[in-house]
Amino acid sequence: MTEVVTYSRDGNIGVLTVRYPPVNALSHEVRSGLLEALEKGQADENAKALLLVCEGRTFIAGADIREFGKPMQPPSLPDVINAFENSSKPIVAAIHGTALGGGLELALGCDYRVAVSSAKVGLPEVKLGLLPGAGGTQRLPRLSGAQKALEMITSGEFVGASEALRFGIVDAVEEGNDILSVGKAYTEKAISEGWHLRRVRDLTDKLTAEHDSTVFDEFRASLQKKAPNLFSPFKCVDAVEAAFQLPFEAGLEKERELFMACMQSSQRAGLVHAFFAEREVSKVPGLAAETPVREINRVGIVGAGTMGGGIAMNFANVGIPVRLLEARQDALDRGLAVIRKNYENTAKKGRITAAQVEERMVLIEPTLNYDDFGDVDLVIEAVFEDMGIKRDIFARLDEVCKPGAILASNTSTLDIDAIASATRRPQDVVGMHFFSPANVMKLLENVRGEKTADDVKATVMAVAKRINKVGVLVGNGYGFVGNRMLHKRGAEAVALVNEGASPQQVDQVLTDFGFPMGQFAMSDLAGIDVGYRIRQERRKAGEDVPVSWLDKLAEQNRLGQKTGMGVYRYEAGSRAPIPDPQVDALIAEYRAEQDITPRAVSDQEILERCLYVMINEGARILEEGIAARSLDIDVIWIYGYGFPAYRGGPMFLADEIGLDAILATIKDFQQRFGASRWQPASLLEKLVAEGKRFSDL
Ligand code: 3HC
Repeated sequence: MTEVVTYSRDGNIGVLTVRYPPVNALSHEVRSGLLEALEKGQADENAKALLLVCEGRTFIAGADIREFGKPMQPPSLPDVINAFENSSKPIVAAIHGTALGGGLELALGCDYRVAVSSAKVGLPEVKLGLLPGAGGTQRLPRLSGAQKALEMITSGEFVGASEALRFGIVDAVEEGNDILSVGKAYTEKAISEGWHLRRVRDLTDKLTAEHDSTVFDEFRASLQKKAPNLFSPFKCVDAVEAAFQLPFEAGLEKERELFMACMQSSQRAGLVHAFFAEREVSKVPGLAAETPVREINRVGIVGAGTMGGGIAMNFANVGIPVRLLEARQDALDRGLAVIRKNYENTAKKGRITAAQVEERMVLIEPTLNYDDFGDVDLVIEAVFEDMGIKRDIFARLDEVCKPGAILASNTSTLDIDAIASATRRPQDVVGMHFFSPANVMKLLENVRGEKTADDVKATVMAVAKRINKVGVLVGNGYGFVGNRMLHKRGAEAVALVNEGASPQQVDQVLTDFGFPMGQFAMSDLAGIDVGYRIRQERRKAGEDVPVSWLDKLAEQNRLGQKTGMGVYRYEAGSRAPIPDPQVDALIAEYRAEQDITPRAVSDQEILERCLYVMINEGARILEEGIAARSLDIDVIWIYGYGFPAYRGGPMFLADEIGLDAILATIKDFQQRFGASRWQPASLLEKLVAEGKRFSDL
């Protein structure tokens, strides 16, 4: 027997124990081990019932995702689960931690399920572009009914033990930390009370009682609204529907067929890449895993504007006290009022309680006085993009903050080293670039300056985890990773409009691709003045940044959503962008001034120019070491800018399209639109010459 699964007997209970850290995933070894242990249990005359239990932090968390895309080695998971379901002795699954995906499916192949109260169960396959492919779509509805099964399977969300009990997914919930004792006690009860075999496949009352085809159509319609571009959620509905239309065996076959279609889809490849990339970014090359971190118990934030307020909320949400500083009382009052309104809106949606609103507000202490930063462990400056102002603030922080306090800037483009040099402690200075809205977006782009100490880098990465963000450590350079690529795309989008596209055509192409909003709707959200100020700073620094119709919008105080007008116009209280003939006129005027005769621009050209300009810049970013790996860039784009995760991120997508095809198109653009803007990155040329991909680096 392989040692990842063992069989032992305790009295009249045969115990099957899985130990395959970190999450007991169902690798080939585990699947074989489970079958062997099951056979032993069946053959053991002294075992009256069997208990399946896992060691370590969790029950089985699913199929082994690392095996996806490789040839499957038998036994398959459905074969293992069928063998469990056909056992001649009752089997109890004892669940702690998370029983997910194939793990829950295996538990559903057992006769009884007991969970500790902290346990969670779920079928998160859809988040990986899949559907439960080992009977989950056929067995879960037999326990929970159609509605709950559809909810769980199409969302991938976990449910807690008590909810699982309510829906019949588990049979009992017990208190206790020792899962083996909980499992044994429950199995002893099963034996002493003479419980019979109870195969989920044979349960039909939920199938007949709930057989109402409208529920499937309703789910399809709501998915069509929420996630029209996704492949697997629709297949999930088809699979669950099969449980209500077909006999069990035929339902399993249908599930397998749909599962294989998902497995072969490019969306599965993209989502699995995104899953591992998200975990990989926390392992920073060159930063030892054992690097010590500084203690962060109190945070100071400079600036109570949109960004500062959002950042403050992140800390208050996890119980870390914040001092929020502004220059003037009215600005401070406004900032706090916005924070309160945001919390109250969350409470209205039922996601937090009224008491939690107050608890969080109490944690955010307003101040007008820098001296109140004497005892903070981390300061995050979040004022607007002006190097002079930022340097003054950092010089002031250097005076008032205690030794060892980390001084961070939320700058989205400016040079961290230039900011650090305003202090006598550049080793403590770092960038912490949050994304708007800062209390929502999951990305935290942490920027290392030339002198930033290792423990400061490790601390800001740990802070990201603590406030539930995905932290990516990047190098210092204009716009770091995300905004550097975004600004290239922004300039290209403006060029496309100059040539004849409309802002709404560009945005439509990007949203059809899967971005939650287009380039121009995003400018309106962030504020037209933000980009304008950045361009002005660059012009001041002597860069050649051409004046565009976007600058004219800023100068006319069309600043985006906040003024009700930007590239689009907005009805009071609405965030829906409405095309504005006044902007069309402004663009036409600009074209006339520049002697441009507008032409029809195809959607494909828009998409290729918007994406390839980012990919080309991404290649330069890699070449310069600003991002350590192509997966860091992918994670930044997925979590900071809503790049569709099912496409894996820009660099993953580039590998999928083929770098040679991308280079050829870039060279064509270079001929058509100018040598400097479309100069191919040398890394891209090198990879193509060597027949390599970004992921090979
Ligand atoms: N296969 C392989 N490795 C896995 C894994 C899996 N299913 N789930 C997690 N891991 C790995 C992670 O990559 C990570 O590895 P690392 O330490 O080398 O980076 C390690 O386990 C720990 O994972 P997390 O950092 O995510 O730890 P958390 O404690 O934060 O979360 C978890 C644990 C909730 C289990 C989370 O990892 C998770 O959601 N995992 C995915 C679960 C899942 O999607 N299961 C379904 C798989 S598909 C399936 O079962 C198909 C079937 O229907 C046929």
